[in-house]
Amino acid sequence: MTERVLGVIGGSGVYAIEDLDDVERLDFDTPWGAPSDALVRGRLNGVRVIFLARHGVGHRLTPGAINYRANIDALKRAGASDVVSLSACGSLREDLPPGTFVLVDQFVDRTSGREKSFFGPGFVAHVSLAEPVCPGLRGALAQACRAVGVPFADRGTYVCIDGPQFSTRAESRLYRAWGCDVIGMTNMPEVRLAREAELPYASVAMVTDYDCWRETDKAVEVGDVLAVLKANAAAARRLLDRLTRDLGPVRTPSPLGIETVLDHAVITPPEA
Ligand code: ADE
Repeated sequence: MTERVLGVIGGSGVYAIEDLDDVERLDFDTPWGAPSDALVRGRLNGVRVIFLARHGVGHRLTPGAINYRANIDALKRAGASDVVSLSACGSLREDLPPGTFVLVDQFVDRTSGREKSFFGPGFVAHVSLAEPVCPGLRGALAQACRAVGVPFADRGTYVCIDGPQFSTRAESRLYRAWGCDVIGMTNMPEVRLAREAELPYASVAMVTDYDCWRETDKAVEVGDVLAVLKANAAAARRLLDRLTRDLGPVRTPSPLGIETVLDHAVITPPEA
């Protein structure tokens, strides 16, 4: 029997999980540097959970300043068996209004200058990212969204931009033309690194605004985003409560074999 240890990365508006039992704070350091904050380990409905505030508690870090490698490495070393990411996003589709939770299944990465791999130089490994999200975790999240009555989409393509500025209108329209559904600043390179670390990962992108593509709308404004952010954070808490009850403390293997992905990766050993 393998115990489930659910890693949860909380984005804007989600800086803690209340209701954790047996809470411990773990100050971690990693070969990549320090994670965004201390990890908080505890139990939720009997399931072991390790929480990390992506921007740090108090929202200290911009998306580009987050040490994504340290965050994923710290979760792995602390024993996480799976990772659920919670993050705010903008909507690129009329039928995904603020308050909708999008269970992302694909990503387009428009970030630059972020450290995106644990490998190289000297040791190169290429893992598959064709299916970047664990379908088992995503399915469990869909079931939990349904149970708690959160409006959700069971798939979607997330375009990740550098930020911290929002997009221009031309960019927003371009991403729509590309078939992207939501836009955010933080899921990349987190997704890539979770796969390299053999951690099944799923992303809940919580819509706060319509970005700026709509002809009729004013551009995204911080005040509007903050109000929805608060309501989304409350819904995320209900979602995690349900998710842990549904998943239970025993882990089932990922349908994609993510836990052993490096066994099948294309690896170039360092030259002698
Ligand atoms: N996070 C929340 N809303 C966003 C938007 N419109 N663009 C990028 N990131 C976001």
